[in-house]
Amino acid sequence: MAKPVLIVHGGAWEIPAEQVEACRAGCRRALERGWAALAKGASAVEACEVAILELEDDPVFDAGIGSHLNRDGRVQLDAILMDGRTLKTGAVAAVERLRNPIQTARLVLEHSEHMMLVGPGAEQFAVERGVSLCNPSELVIAREVELWYKRKHESDAGRGRFQPKERLGTVGAVARDAQGNLAAGTSTGGTACKYPGRVGDSPLIGCGCYADNQTGAVSATGQGEEIMKMVLAKAACDRLAGGLEPQAAAEKAVAVLGERTEGLGGLIVVDAQGRVGAAFSTPNMAYALRTADSADPVVRL
Ligand code: GLY
Repeated sequence: MAKPVLIVHGGAWEIPAEQVEACRAGCRRALERGWAALAKGASAVEACEVAILELEDDPVFDAGIGSHLNRDGRVQLDAILMDGRTLKTGAVAAVERLRNPIQTARLVLEHSEHMMLVGPGAEQFAVERGVSLCNPSELVIAREVELWYKRKHESDAGRGRFQPKERLGTVGAVARDAQGNLAAGTSTGGTACKYPGRVGDSPLIGCGCYADNQTGAVSATGQGEEIMKMVLAKAACDRLAGGLEPQAAAEKAVAVLGERTEGLGGLIVVDAQGRVGAAFSTPNMAYALRTADSADPVVRL
């Protein structure tokens, strides 16, 4: 039997002092939920899904309820789940009526011949698989309406850009289960005031997420357009394949992101041996991890 590992993150950004405790508590709850599943024998895919469900339901993060609004004042969500055993992914993008997009990402992973569905097609697939659609207004909270009013008067060039001081709490999880299988998942509301239909790195295989039983599992967070240029999650896995340990691979990937694109971001990593790593170039990243060797969860922020 392999030793299980779970890491969750609540995004790399400049977390204001008054939100630190809420981010810590949210990561801890997600870790506990995912760990309980792993302890009962759940797969790495299942553990990532349940941890991310918890993070999506927490309005402190930019995923699910409480996500940033786009230029039209609507929430559009992206999510992905990848199975390191098969290399299959399930992803959804630009969905507006799914309260928990990671749930439909799992349905795509396990029940579709496709890897990614977007917009109304993704919502139709969810309904066919028994998911109830939500009213888009259920995802909108007062804090985000206030931010939207503040940002909507900015120039076209400024709107929709990554602002490290602004909440960018994309969420994610990576896991290794008792069978030694790896999985990774990522979910986000994207950037504030993004152009309608804009899709960032998060739901793209290799960019916001990658998992391969032969190397490792990675979830990324940060400046989507720059992360896409670097195919960051796969780049970190390639460094594992090249012999780096997870901490060094995470640090190198984030450093190269900065050198080549000036982008900011963060990564969580577990490798095929169950070793862990986490790195970020933003002022903070909220994350929590647990391994079979640690009696208690480790929450970092
Ligand atoms: N990293 C999240 C996004 O840019 O959408």
